[in-house]
Amino acid sequence: MELPKKFEQVDQWKTMLFLYESALKEINTKIEILNQEFVHVHNYNPIEHVKSRIKSAESIVRKLKKLGFEATIDNMMKHLNDIAGIRIICSFTSDIYQIAKMIANQDDVMVLQVKDYMKHPKPNGYKSYHMVVSLPIFLSDGPVHTTVEIQIRTIAMDFWASLEHKIYYKYEGNAPAQMYEELKDCADIVEQLDAKMLSLNEQIQQMHVEEDT
Ligand code: GTP
Ligand code: MG
Repeated sequence: MELPKKFEQVDQWKTMLFLYESALKEINTKIEILNQEFVHVHNYNPIEHVKSRIKSAESIVRKLKKLGFEATIDNMMKHLNDIAGIRIICSFTSDIYQIAKMIANQDDVMVLQVKDYMKHPKPNGYKSYHMVVSLPIFLSDGPVHTTVEIQIRTIAMDFWASLEHKIYYKYEGNAPAQMYEELKDCADIVEQLDAKMLSLNEQIQQMHVEEDT
């Protein structure tokens, strides 16, 4: 992604923020509409809540350094695809792929990358579904394609990820081994909980189907 020529006279950092903030607005609206359509058709709300954020200048610079790049606006836009990030939290594991599919099906959304930590959890127990998408921001001179990282996970997975993140930062990646083991145990419990909740929900839905027929 490159900054359009017309922005040459404007502060590049501000231009970049403007584009990514616009991309977050776009994707948030898309998700809200898809969710409402789902409620309208199926009487069921697949999305619990949505959080979005723009990566801080500090973490942008830190990440570029880690990747061995100079901290320039060009490098940020070329090498980082998580400057604009959105996290979709849903109730059940079955919602995750449904939401991912609804997003990917949008005509103007291009899926650039998928990391399925649902099918292949990380060794620490991390589970989530990640997509990097590109979507056009329609400006006065035409579209500018902007990337957004989307993470989709259940409430239980999100609860686990927040705690793991907290521990990781508190100990700067060097937490006592026993803590990592306990986190792994928690990840197993999260998996069981998600499976049980899904099965209970399916039973409830089955009851509704039988009542209606
Ligand atoms: P990062 O350099 O961490 O951004 O990884 P990546 O660019 O290879 O992408 P990946 O899809 O693996 O991770 C993207 C984001 O997912 C991270 O920035 C975190 O927000 C989240 N994430 C990935 N792995 C973990 C994990 O083990 N624990 C937690 N809490 N979050 C994770
Ligand atoms: Mg990332």
